[in-house]
Amino acid sequence: MTDTATLSAVGVGPGDPELITLKGLRAIQESDVLFVPQSRDGDQSLALRIAEPHIDHARQTIVTLPLPMTRDAGELRPAWRTAAETIVAALANQRRGAYLLLGDPLLYGTFVYLWRELNALQAPLRVRIIPGVTSFAAAAAAGGVPLAMSNERMIIVPAGYETDAATLRRFLSDFETVVLMKAGSALPSIVAALEELDLLDHALYAERVGMPEELIARDLRSLDLQRRPYLSLVIVRRGDML
Ligand SMILES: C[S@@+](CC[C@H](N)C(=O)[O-])C[C@H]1O[C@@H](n2cnc3c(N)ncnc32)[C@H](O)[C@@H]1O
Repeated sequence: MTDTATLSAVGVGPGDPELITLKGLRAIQESDVLFVPQSRDGDQSLALRIAEPHIDHARQTIVTLPLPMTRDAGELRPAWRTAAETIVAALANQRRGAYLLLGDPLLYGTFVYLWRELNALQAPLRVRIIPGVTSFAAAAAAGGVPLAMSNERMIIVPAGYETDAATLRRFLSDFETVVLMKAGSALPSIVAALEELDLLDHALYAERVGMPEELIARDLRSLDLQRRPYLSLVIVRRGDML
């Protein structure tokens, strides 16, 4: 046991429990308490589902951190502060905890908000980050698409803000590969933009990668565009798809 409490932010990968890293697995198994935020999109409880095969419920406690159903920073900040206080209290007496996140903790993850509040509290808590397999890496592997080769450049953007044809055209003139995260409700405009740019055959759609409900599609025309979940992304390549 260490002489201070430890909190590990563990990226559990995109869905397949076998894509948890050995280091992440060890951090989960050595934890007394596992923390998951309650999120409006449900993706954090999925992190718990991914880690589930490795949790010993007789020995480990699961703490869900409530968050308001809003993206308003003014409302969220006090909730993160409360979450940080909950963690510090739960890990008193040198206990160990793991905060579980989908994919990698530092790629569009919630941990950074919590980290900021933990730092502000100046609590005697050692924080460490355990990287995870990102969703786009798993999607590229599942779809058999190279992300970047040689001196190619790649850009990762949240789709909601970046899906019109002019923006995509600009990205694809500067980067060989564009990863559009958070595709879900933006999919109709993504497909329209790809059609306009004649790039529909240069795209991969991936949803719930590594989960039992996984869907990988090279033909985006075949999808019901209105009914796609938040846990989805699109990879567009200017050049060869293989
Ligand atoms: C809040 S971000 C979390 C990203 C995550 N930290 C990562 O490293 O991939 C949520 C977005 O990640 C993508 N995502 C996460 N897991 C996914 C999965 N299993 N399948 C497809 N997309 C996924 C989707 O684009 C989703 O909208």
